[in-house]
Amino acid sequence: MSRRSRGIFITFEGPDGAGKSTQVELLAQALAEREPLVFREPGGTELGERIREIVLHRPESMSAEAEMHLFMAARAELLRTRIEPALAAGRIVIDDRYQDSTLAYQGGGRGAPVDWPASFPKPDLTILLVLPPDVGLDRIRSGGKGLDRLDAEPLDFHRAVAAAYDRLAAADPDRFLRVDARGAPEEIHAEVLGRVRSLLAESEVRASS
Ligand code: TMP
Repeated sequence: MSRRSRGIFITFEGPDGAGKSTQVELLAQALAEREPLVFREPGGTELGERIREIVLHRPESMSAEAEMHLFMAARAELLRTRIEPALAAGRIVIDDRYQDSTLAYQGGGRGAPVDWPASFPKPDLTILLVLPPDVGLDRIRSGGKGLDRLDAEPLDFHRAVAAAYDRLAAADPDRFLRVDARGAPEEIHAEVLGRVRSLLAESEVRASS
């Protein structure tokens, strides 16, 4: 039997207001026995949290390309110092947003020249919560959490982000699970957990063969 050297990398994507954080929490609770590591982007490191502050909560405008590099710099730090060591140790990592966010928001929404750096690992599974952009924005506005710099963009921007997510999911159907985010949180969670359990079962089979 070969020893398993790589963990499982699961990412959550979707528009603001889709209930991503709730689903991340529910999944982490369901997998608690396996002690998953949970991160949110941008963030998860000291540098990442500082970048989060600059890129989401400062009023200054910045070029689309600078914004793209800031999100990716935060990600590179998180990857090198947290995610990759955890995966190498066989852990489950759940990341609330990853490179698909930069492709959708900075690429699709802003038109920045985003690619997927060869050194950024591909997730084993990406859960895309799908919600019409106007519904997501209404949910954030009525939730009282306050809008970040990206949330405050006009509806057309959010439509372009949603269209970019659709293209990304269509181009990589094995990696993406699209889930309608208008359902009840428990129903969405059941769908997500079903897929995660199959992924874990497949990886056990691979590890023991
Ligand atoms: P969230 O913590 O509520 O998901 O908010 C993060 C915000 O940052 C959200 O508006 C999407 C945006 N974002 C990008 O535009 N590009 C990225 O690469 C990431 C990770 C987030």
